[in-house]
Amino acid sequence: MHADRHQWLNAAVSAAATAADFIAQEARTHRAIQWEAKSATDFVSHVDLGAEERIRDTLLARIPGLRIVGEELSNDGNPEDGLVAIVDPLDGTTNFLHGFPNYCVSICMALNGVPQAAVIHDVARGGVYTATAGAGAFVDGQRMHVSTIAEPARALIGTGFPFRDVSYAERYLAMMRRLMPATAGMRRAGSAALDLTDVAHGRFDAFWELWLNPWDFAAGMLLVREAGGRVTDLEGREARLLGGTIVASNGTLHDWFLDILNDRLG
Ligand code: IPD
Ligand code: CA
Ligand code: CA
Repeated sequence: MHADRHQWLNAAVSAAATAADFIAQEARTHRAIQWEAKSATDFVSHVDLGAEERIRDTLLARIPGLRIVGEELSNDGNPEDGLVAIVDPLDGTTNFLHGFPNYCVSICMALNGVPQAAVIHDVARGGVYTATAGAGAFVDGQRMHVSTIAEPARALIGTGFPFRDVSYAERYLAMMRRLMPATAGMRRAGSAALDLTDVAHGRFDAFWELWLNPWDFAAGMLLVREAGGRVTDLEGREARLLGGTIVASNGTLHDWFLDILNDRLG
């Protein structure tokens, strides 16, 4: 493996593990009091911030001067400029708050807009998903691949609801209405990063969400591509590291998926 990518991956894996330990510890300690807390969101921010602090400290100790675009603390500029770590310290915050076991740490190392190394650490269920550009995608060191399903009727589709900006709702619901009778089913599990590991691992055959931030999908995008899948925007252009609509699939289903999302199947 490319020596720099190897170093970047190791730093990211180590930073994600430190944050995951902290989040798991907080989940054990705070579970009992979360419904008593006056402001539940303070508790969540404390965990989000604490996790990002640990990630930042670990990354900077290993790669001095590294620029970090993180969701909470360190949203430092353009994710497509130079060497940058794109960090979601806790993806699936609502799940975490409710004790629903689907949340993770997501870190992508990118150079001039090109993802180089990525880790998604599944905190609640365990599992460390990694990828480096050109060298494949792995879960706990085992190579993983997207599914081979080619028939839409057999496809399981992951998604995220547009819960922040309800102006997307009508457009989104029309997409769901078209997909419902055409596929084997849809799931909304509450962590876009883990949804993308599900595509990379062949558990989901496709996934889409109308608006994601770079830290929600950057690591997952590299995992899906390195596992043999595709990640584009709604127009079918290869997805970049800027926020927007993300359409991911096992590749085989991609054109059909874009067609049905865009209402081109009649
Ligand atoms: C959210 C999750 C969710 C997705 C949202 C994201 P957060 O991230 O990934 O699945 O639907 O769009 O913002 O807030 O839990 O880090
Ligand atoms: Ca997120
Ligand atoms: Ca987050």
